[in-house]
This record gives sequence, structure tokens and C-alpha cells, in this order.
Amino acid sequence: TKIAVFASGSGSNFQAIQESIERGELNANIEVVVTDKPNAYVVKRAEKFGIPVFAFSPKDYASKATYESEIVKILKQKAVEWIVLAGYMRLIGDTLLTEYPNKIVNIHPSLLPAFPGKDAIGQAMEHGVKVTGVTVHYVDEGMDTGPIIAQRAVEVVDGNREATEERIHKVEHELYPKTLKKLFENK
Ligand code: GRF
Repeated sequence: TKIAVFASGSGSNFQAIQESIERGELNANIEVVVTDKPNAYVVKRAEKFGIPVFAFSPKDYASKATYESEIVKILKQKAVEWIVLAGYMRLIGDTLLTEYPNKIVNIHPSLLPAFPGKDAIGQAMEHGVKVTGVTVHYVDEGMDTGPIIAQRAVEVVDGNREATEERIHKVEHELYPKTLKKLFENK
């Protein structure tokens, strides 16, 4: 299965997916990493694995439709079938949603529908919940609102954001490749 990974940050989930592919567990190929942050650490990681990167700055384009059309062109050239969002910090627009219906997935660090949007872990700590988690879901036009595919609970380490975050990331790195494997085998 040919996939594109979209990321804006560190790219640890990108790396977990790529390593799962290299171990032969996930039958997929990351054709391109797409980022809206040319200086993000994910670019370094992609280069290390020899994976092509399309980095763009949204401010260089007139609109979301304009840069998404550019992205669609690249994805079509590479025959990409699925879009995997991994810390991509922008809403997906009509252009991509129309080209890839039910073929865009995201991972979010909470048990949705709790704590959508930015800094879900901070929101959970602030709220004082004892259990939070990780959700993999289909992407629609909303912010972290599409149909849920998989979830895992993670216990909060009381008052310790860093330790909680570490637990969540560990679960993400297992859950995302596993869930993608199931999705791709069911096509
Ligand atoms: C993850 O926590 C993911 O759930 C959220 O953004 C973070 C990305 O982390 N959407 P990384 O860039 O994969 O390390």
C-alpha cells in the first residue's frame, strides 16, 4: 500500500511507521513525507530513511485549495492510496478530502471526543482526568471529529506531564502501525 505521511513536528510517529515497515510488519511504503514546516525535525528523520519530502510554506500560496492542489499532484504522481496524518497541525480541506474520500487517517493523543484540538495532553492534565489515551480516526472536515477506528487508554501520571506524554507516545507508536496494518489488509 502506497502511503503519504503528513507531519509538522518531530515525526516520532512517522519513524514508528517506517520502522514497522522495515521490520516487515506493515506492508506499505511511505512514498513521500509532506510537511508545512520546512524546518521540522521530521524532515531530518525522512532524509535519514531516504524518503522524499515535500516541504511547503502555506504563506507562499494564495489559499488552502492552492497548496492542496499542489499536494494532490504529487500524491497522484506517486500513486499514493492513503494519507496518514502524524502530527500535521492543519485542517485538511475540501481538495484533499474529495480526492481521498475515507482514505485519510489521523492519530490524536486523547480519547476522542474528549480534548480535541491543540495540546490534548495539556488539556487532560489541566482537567485532572486520571485516564486519557490515544485515538486513531478517519479525517473529515472538522477538527479531530471523524469516525473512530481504534482507541487505547493510558493512565495519567498524576501531576507529571512529561511522564504522561511519554506513556502516550509509546502507545501511539504501537497503535498506529497496528491499526494501519488492519486498515490496509481490509481493502
Ligand atoms: C502526536 O502526539 C500525535 O498524536 C499528535 O501530534 C503528535 C505528533 O508527534 N497528533 P510526532 O511528531 O509524531 O512525534
